Amino acid sequence: MRNHPSLPIDADRLWHSHEEMGQLGATPKGGVNRQALTPEDQQARALFTKWAQQAGCTVETDCVGNLFARRPGRDPSLPAVCTGSHLDTQPTGGKYDGAYGVLAGLEILRALNDAGIETERSIEVVAWTNEEGTRFAHSGSALFVGKVDLAEAYNATDPAGIRFEDALVAINAKGPLPLGNRPYDSVFEAHIEQGPILERDGYAVGIVTGARGQTRYTVTVTGMEGHAGTMPMTMRQDALVAASRLVVTLEQIGLDHPPQGVCTVGALTVYPNSRNTIPGTVTFDIDLRHPTQDGIDSMEAAIAAAMQAEQHKGKVSVTCTVLDRDAPLTFDADLVALLKVGADSLDRPVMDIFSMAGHDACYLAAHQPTAMVFVPCKNGISHNELESATVEDLAAGVEVLAAAILARAMRR
Ligand code: GLV
Ligand code: MN
Ligand code: MN
Repeated sequence: MRNHPSLPIDADRLWHSHEEMGQLGATPKGGVNRQALTPEDQQARALFTKWAQQAGCTVETDCVGNLFARRPGRDPSLPAVCTGSHLDTQPTGGKYDGAYGVLAGLEILRALNDAGIETERSIEVVAWTNEEGTRFAHSGSALFVGKVDLAEAYNATDPAGIRFEDALVAINAKGPLPLGNRPYDSVFEAHIEQGPILERDGYAVGIVTGARGQTRYTVTVTGMEGHAGTMPMTMRQDALVAASRLVVTLEQIGLDHPPQGVCTVGALTVYPNSRNTIPGTVTFDIDLRHPTQDGIDSMEAAIAAAMQAEQHKGKVSVTCTVLDRDAPLTFDADLVALLKVGADSLDRPVMDIFSMAGHDACYLAAHQPTAMVFVPCKNGISHNELESATVEDLAAGVEVLAAAILARAMRR
C-alpha cells in the first residue's frame, strides 16, 4: 500500500549538504567539533537558516535557541508535522549525529518544492539547541516540553563558568518565542543508528520502536589536599583514589546488568590538579542507561550503595546530584506503523530497532505522537570523528521519513 507517490529525494544534494555543514567545526581527523552555542554552532545555524529560507520557509527562534523552519500548508491553522534533530556535536563528533535529522527534513522540503506539492498541514523542520549535553546539561527539546525549569537552565554553566543564557545571547541565538507554543500533529526524527546492528544485519533503515531509560548524575568526592611527599600513604584523604575506585565499581555495575545495561563516567575534574598535591576534590558525571525501568532502578540502587560504601571508609565524603532522569519509552504505534508502510512501499529492507541513545524525539514523545527512523553508520561508530554513513543509506532513510511525513501532512 502506498499512501502518496514518493518524493524526488535528491541523494547527491542531501550528501553535499552534509559535506558543507560538516565544514563548520571540521577537525583534522575528518570529524566535527561544533559544540552548542560556540561560533561554529552559530555558523551552522546561519547556514541552516539560509537554506530553509531559500526553500521558502519562515524561520523563527525561541528563547532557548530552538530554530523552527516552517513550510506553510494550505491550512496553517492545522497543527503542523514536525521533523528535525540537532546541529551541535560532541567534541570528537562526526558529520551525521544530529545534522542528518535536520538535513533530512530540509531535503524533504526541497523535494516537495521540486515536485510542486502543497501539503494540507504546514511542515516544520526544527534544529533543537544543545542536544548533546556536552557543554550544558539540558537540551532545547527538553526545555521545549517543560521537562526542565527555564530559570534553572539559564543559570546552568559550562565547564568554563559561562551561563547558558549568556552563551545564547553571545551568538545571537536567544529568540523571542516562548517555550512550547507549537502543538504538533506528529513529530519525526531521522538519525544515524550510532550502533552496529543495521549494518551487521544488512538493513538500510531501522524503524525505532522505543528508547532506553537514562539517569545522569554529577558526583563530588571531597577529601583533603596535602603534600605529595610528606603525607604518609595511610593518612591521606585522596579524593582521586576514592573516585577511581568508584569509577571501577560503576563499570562493574554496567557489566552486572547485561546485555544492555551501560554505565559511563565520561567527564572528570580533579582539584587542584597539581602533580605534587594530593587531590582534594574530584567531580565526575555518571551516565547510566537500561531498556527497562527495573534495570534503571537496580542500577541506581547499586550506585547509591557504592557511594555509601566509599564514604564508610571514612576518608572522603561523597555527594551525588541527579542531573536528569528519562524513563524508557515506546514510540507512537500509529506513526511507527506509518513509517513501516512507507518503507514497504518504497521496497527498502527495514527492521524494528530499539534506541540506547538519547534523542530530541525522546523528549518530544512525552507530549505529541513521535517516531524515529535510523540508518546505519559504519562499524556502529559514533561520538567519534570516524563516524561515517553512505549516500545510499542516508537517502533511504529520508525516503522512508518522507513517505510518512507526506501522509501526515496531507491529512485534513
Ligand atoms: C546523545 O547523544 C546520547 O547521549 O545518547
Ligand atoms: Mn544525536
Ligand atoms: Mn550524540
